[in-house]
Amino acid sequence: MALQSLTKFNLKNFSLPFLNKQSLTVGLDIGSHAIKICELLEGRNGVKLLSLGSARLPADAVEDGELRDPDSVAEIIKSLLKNLKIKGKKVGISISGYSVILKKINLSVMSEKDLAEHIQSEAEQYIPFDLDDVYLDFQDLQTNTETEDRTDIMLVAAKKDVVNAYLQMLQSVGLKTVLVDVDAFALENSFEMNFGQEGNVVLVDIGSSKMNINIISQGASLFARDVVMGSRHLTEQIQEKFDLEFEEAESIKIGAVSAEDKQEELAHLFVNTTTKWIMEIQKALDFYNSNFPDDPLSKIVLSGGGSKIKGLDLFFSKETGLPVEVFNPFHLTEVDTEKIDPDYLKSIAPEMAIPMGLATRACPL
Ligand SMILES: Nc1ncnc2c1ncn2[C@@H]1O[C@H](COP(=O)(O)OP(=O)(O)OP(=O)(O)O)[C@@H](O)[C@H]1O
Ligand SMILES: [Mg+2]
Repeated sequence: MALQSLTKFNLKNFSLPFLNKQSLTVGLDIGSHAIKICELLEGRNGVKLLSLGSARLPADAVEDGELRDPDSVAEIIKSLLKNLKIKGKKVGISISGYSVILKKINLSVMSEKDLAEHIQSEAEQYIPFDLDDVYLDFQDLQTNTETEDRTDIMLVAAKKDVVNAYLQMLQSVGLKTVLVDVDAFALENSFEMNFGQEGNVVLVDIGSSKMNINIISQGASLFARDVVMGSRHLTEQIQEKFDLEFEEAESIKIGAVSAEDKQEELAHLFVNTTTKWIMEIQKALDFYNSNFPDDPLSKIVLSGGGSKIKGLDLFFSKETGLPVEVFNPFHLTEVDTEKIDPDYLKSIAPEMAIPMGLATRACPL
């Protein structure tokens, strides 16, 4: 079925030789706080940044990974595309939340064709939804060895009604969705495009309403989890504490408005919230360390708007004993600084991790 093949997840990152037409998808990350867009051009020496930008969404327009107010979201996407003069119509999106299930299973090694047939019956026991209601995809992580003929398979399922709502909304603004990915994998692609597959790295994307934790090792995801915790909670705490409007609290949080008189109480709120985040991250680290005691973690890499809290990297590093960096997904990307202000790029880079990962994906021709 056309719709089904259109929305088939495309988990493998691959690259086409240089082409003049749109060879890469326009990366579109529809978060709960903001929409982020990134457009890259594939050149002979890597990728070049064509355009990027973001726009805030009204509260509750996107919730738990679901499109609740498609008309508002469509209008915002339309004006963002217009302002950024984006001509590409083929977009890649990613989804997350309760309607997406990631499950790693272990099976005997078999051909891709046999696996495709077998996976349907396997999936039934792992996916808590009726299989007729989900899009299903898988990737062989090829963990088999000379002595072990079993391999790990990453199984992905997403609810059709949730995905279809995005497709319809995007079609209404003249866009063709050629790729539906999952936040965790888009983040992983983004990281590997920049830093390759060395070491055992903990990727943590802190958004507005959720935190995605993904531990990767040699190109494989060993642990991937969404936690319903994000930076919005901190805004709400500030709002409640000082009896403010949401936007006033948001401005204080991001440091756009000074709040000299509130420093002590603010510090307390920041520590409270970020300590909850670190406790969740620590659970992932504990899982990894107990399963792979001889192959220690190398570092934590932070992304998402929530990672922009000043000093968060140092705090996490102190708490976990691991080096912590804030991710710059444009580390290797060629940028025309006449067209894209380097200060703007630097400030928005952490939020652009997922859309950058989507924007590196090849468009099906
Ligand atoms: N300088 C800053 N300091 C602290 N927080 C910030 C800063 N800039 C942005 N944020 C917060 O980051 C969040 C938005 O980040 P992001 O765009 O990654 O979220 P999202 O993708 O829309 O949300 P989600 O992934 O949870 O659906 C907001 O809560 C915003 O307040
Ligand atoms: Mg996000």
